Amino acid sequence: MARLAGVFASSHAPLIVRGWKDVKPANQQGLSSAMGELGRRMKAARPDVIIEIAPDHWVNFFINNLPSICVGMGEEHEGPAEPWMKECPYKKIAGHPRLAQHVVETALEHDFEPSMSHHLTLDHGFAIPLWKGGLDPLPPIVPIIFNDLEPPFPSVRRCLAWGTMLAEAIATYPEDIRVAILATGGLSHSIGEPTMGEIDEPFDRECIRHFEAGDERKLVDFLNERLPTIGNGAAEIRNWVAAHGAAGKSGFELIGYCNVPEVYVGCGFASWNLGAATR
Ligand SMILES: [Fe+2]
Repeated sequence: MARLAGVFASSHAPLIVRGWKDVKPANQQGLSSAMGELGRRMKAARPDVIIEIAPDHWVNFFINNLPSICVGMGEEHEGPAEPWMKECPYKKIAGHPRLAQHVVETALEHDFEPSMSHHLTLDHGFAIPLWKGGLDPLPPIVPIIFNDLEPPFPSVRRCLAWGTMLAEAIATYPEDIRVAILATGGLSHSIGEPTMGEIDEPFDRECIRHFEAGDERKLVDFLNERLPTIGNGAAEIRNWVAAHGAAGKSGFELIGYCNVPEVYVGCGFASWNLGAATR
């Protein structure tokens, strides 16, 4: 049987790549340190496959066809299409169709109805945390796209349940492989709206405290109350919630938090302590 080898979360601010030269040296150091440590932890987990949960930034889907959740079933995915990601080493990214198929089957058995795609392009939201964490070569990726961009969104509670279901899908997958989960996005930021560029550090800190405390009801209530009141980019924290569910709703450990106005994002990086079962 497969085992859950690690659960991780990371911001994916585009300006970490396209505006890096304009980031102050102290912030460059903070981001590099956190992303490097995240990469070290991901590599230490020795994953044979990574299930990666991220939004799609209008690369695969648009408002004419916008799934709430889509699982990438392909043998191979396209690397990031953004021109400013041309230095990214991932031109083609291997998939893992058998695990993807099992995830979808498990989801359907549990009354979730994900979309499926056999041909996805993985944009900066997928690529930046892996690239900057130094994962090269990459293990195969099973991408799961959550709609965090255009409301209405999957509910916070449903995202938590998705994570719980993913952990079961891994535990019941018949091959003896190690599977890590990486969720990307958030924390607070605001894109294409009047508050663009605003970072709500008190919100981010409180959000982190709720993940650390592990009280499911308080975390869900907090996000339900606060997400509609801050910048639209924070909707991506749903992906962290799914990771939290997969980790058993406990064990959250902050690797680093960097309030970086130059990249418009309160950047957070985290892993979950899964205990001895993963080793
Ligand atoms: Fe994003």
